[in-house]
Amino acid sequence: MQKYYYIITYGCQMNVHESEKIAGVLNELGYSDCNDINKADIVVFNTCCIRENAENHAYGNIGMLKKLKAEKRDMIIAVGGCLTQQMGKADNLHEKFPYVDIIFGTHNLHKFKEYVLLKQSRKKPVIEIEEDSGVVCEGETPLRTSYPNAWVNITYGCNNFCSYCIVPYVRGRERSRSSENIIAEVKGLIEKGYKEITLLGQNVNSYGHGLNDLSFPKLLDKIAKLDGNFRLRFMTSHPKDFSEELARVIAENPKICRCVHLPVQSGSDAVLEAMNRKYTSAEYLYKIEILKKYVPDCAVTTDLIVGFPGETDEDFEATSSLVKKVNYASAFTFVYSRRDGTVAAKMPNQIPEEVSKKRIMELVSLVNSLTRGHSAEYVGKTIEILCEGYDDKKEMYLGRDEFGRMGYFKSETDVIGEFVNIKVLKANGVSLIGERV
Ligand code: SAH
Ligand code: SF4
Ligand code: F3S
Repeated sequence: MQKYYYIITYGCQMNVHESEKIAGVLNELGYSDCNDINKADIVVFNTCCIRENAENHAYGNIGMLKKLKAEKRDMIIAVGGCLTQQMGKADNLHEKFPYVDIIFGTHNLHKFKEYVLLKQSRKKPVIEIEEDSGVVCEGETPLRTSYPNAWVNITYGCNNFCSYCIVPYVRGRERSRSSENIIAEVKGLIEKGYKEITLLGQNVNSYGHGLNDLSFPKLLDKIAKLDGNFRLRFMTSHPKDFSEELARVIAENPKICRCVHLPVQSGSDAVLEAMNRKYTSAEYLYKIEILKKYVPDCAVTTDLIVGFPGETDEDFEATSSLVKKVNYASAFTFVYSRRDGTVAAKMPNQIPEEVSKKRIMELVSLVNSLTRGHSAEYVGKTIEILCEGYDDKKEMYLGRDEFGRMGYFKSETDVIGEFVNIKVLKANGVSLIGERV
């Protein structure tokens, strides 16, 4: 009888890709994907803990499965990822949700197959969290779900210890894959017809540290020069390591998208220092200047945090002013969330919720107005979209241009996975509506 899996993913692209690896393992074990959780024989939660609401979201959804599990005792529930990797959280989870069958962390994802087989043969839950061993796994066979895009890990972990951030604690020390393995994987993907490759790491610019291998700009240059009709993206760049060489490599290679995500977090030097970001706002703006010198039309996007401990009205004003100065194409905005175990969690002057709320609303409206301005400039222009899907509600195909802007259009034929030229007729906030030309 056919067995089915259902995976719920929270958090970043790294997790999305890791869920593809989990799907690959389940496929090997004879399970198929299904889009109805009630039908699933195994449900996997791949969790995130970057902010409190990400954790609460997962807890809520795991809690909702209690009833289904009582009706379907043979259904396996597995919980893994960053939430469970936090100190003590696996035990908490087991206490709170005793019906969860498998609990694993980020450092033992490669043992997932073993855990499923073990659980199939016994009643007792399988609970195992491992410490960071520094090992870089190879030979995984992800079941990719985002054609024509494909994610490729280049680094794992993070050494930056930004004072607010839990990632270094749950993903371990930074380690890089060999360029040989990365390039072989990318070549394979291009041969299979993938049209957009996104290189993934918490801080891609520090790729290769500790290895006698290529630097990140050299790796990017080498991949961008591979034969084939594809686009290349990368995320995330830490501003402190963003170099002139990298800007030059982007400028020289048309396959690299003119779109760089450069998280600034704050525009205030006092806050940046307390965040341990290792740059000032002037240094950040200088990096943008270098980028624009080589790649004048490059779209720049960012991440912003409001309500970091001690953030004053003046600090917040400095953030708003930097956002206007850079004129970001778009930005992710977050309210600071206190994470146990991080340095910032112990800082005095945690900001009251109402103050953070007011600031985030102001910032969101500023960012939206910039984004709308960029979108409006598109009207009348012809852009090249890589079609990545079909929107049933809008009854239109959709995809992004190389600057990361989403465009919608109608087509008589299925063009998913193809580069399509569209003339932009209308701008709707962040997205564009156009017609094929
Ligand atoms: N490695 C990447 C992204 C890390 S997580 C980088 O350094 O840019 C993505 C974003 O989540 C961060 O850029 C930051 O803006 C936000 N973030 C991280 N920890 C947070 C916290 N405790 N509260 C609110 N936002 C946070
Ligand atoms: Fe977190 Fe900073 Fe590392 Fe990004 S660079 S993952 S924000 S510690
Ligand atoms: Fe990503 Fe969340 Fe972990 S953002 S690295 S899944 S804490």
